[in-house]
Amino acid sequence: MPNPRHYLQFSDLTRAEYAYLFGRSALIKGKFKRYEMHQPLVDRTLAMIFEKHSTRTRLSFEAGMHQLGGAAIYINTRDSQLGRGEPIEDAAQVFSRMVDLVMIRTYGQDIVERFAAHSRVPVINGLTNEFHPCQILADVFTYIEYRGNIAGKTVAWVGDANNMLYSWLQAAAILDFKVHFSGPAGYGVDLGRASYPVTSAEAAQLRCFDDPVEACTGAHLITTDVWTSMGFEAENTARLNAFQGFMVDRRMMAAAAPDAVFMHCLPAHRGEEVEAEVIDGPQSVVWDEAENRLHVQKALMEFLLLGELPA
Ligand code: CP
Ligand code: NVA
Repeated sequence: MPNPRHYLQFSDLTRAEYAYLFGRSALIKGKFKRYEMHQPLVDRTLAMIFEKHSTRTRLSFEAGMHQLGGAAIYINTRDSQLGRGEPIEDAAQVFSRMVDLVMIRTYGQDIVERFAAHSRVPVINGLTNEFHPCQILADVFTYIEYRGNIAGKTVAWVGDANNMLYSWLQAAAILDFKVHFSGPAGYGVDLGRASYPVTSAEAAQLRCFDDPVEACTGAHLITTDVWTSMGFEAENTARLNAFQGFMVDRRMMAAAAPDAVFMHCLPAHRGEEVEAEVIDGPQSVVWDEAENRLHVQKALMEFLLLGELPA
């Protein structure tokens, strides 16, 4: 495949391409719900490389590729040569001669970038330390399903400025919504982070607040994530202490817009980053959000392999 399209960051696609993908995701989801076959990827193979744990990402990519008519192969670091020091560039050459598409969940974003640079086939970022674009694709799609266009709306993020938050910032710049952030000192947004710094267009959509209730005031979507992301486990105790006061709770939901929804990429820790009454409450859309990983990633895989298709 000459010059394959990759999906390594949310900023890899344009606003117009997202408009197509969200429409396509709705069409693919509708067919799934009606038990109608949708198999544009018969005989195509997806390789999924996992260097970190996963439930949803593996399930959604594997089930999704199967439903599209193709096959998926699961590879992890533990029992492949990737865990024994084979250069990522060599792995990319080999993988991309045998499969049509690769999804990688790993540590540094540089690993997916280096893999993609040596791959003949599209590469999808299934989470790195820096970004989690597939989750934001699902989250924005979920917002649109519930409330319509996200442009002009406000997303409030309470907690750790992690891979999810930086992906929300990329989405805000492309899809034109605001992000309100509130987290403890030392865990805030690093506008000039050494790798993949926040662009001025992203920073223009961001407002930071000391008080999480203030960050949530009037917001249309309230969201958070674990306080300790994968790869940062050694900091767990320090983080547990630092993040006290930054649990999304009923006070924050009450300050939000009356029709605000709550999202969490999962897995969640009730009583840490989110109060049980919020994640299990009436404004929570977390199960639809999780399911939508399946539908948006089917649309994404189809798009990367076949381009835009007529409805
Ligand atoms: N949200 C998400 O990516 O979940 P997994 O870690 O289970 O894949
Ligand atoms: N920020 C979390 C997301 C898990 C899906 C992590 O990177 O571990």
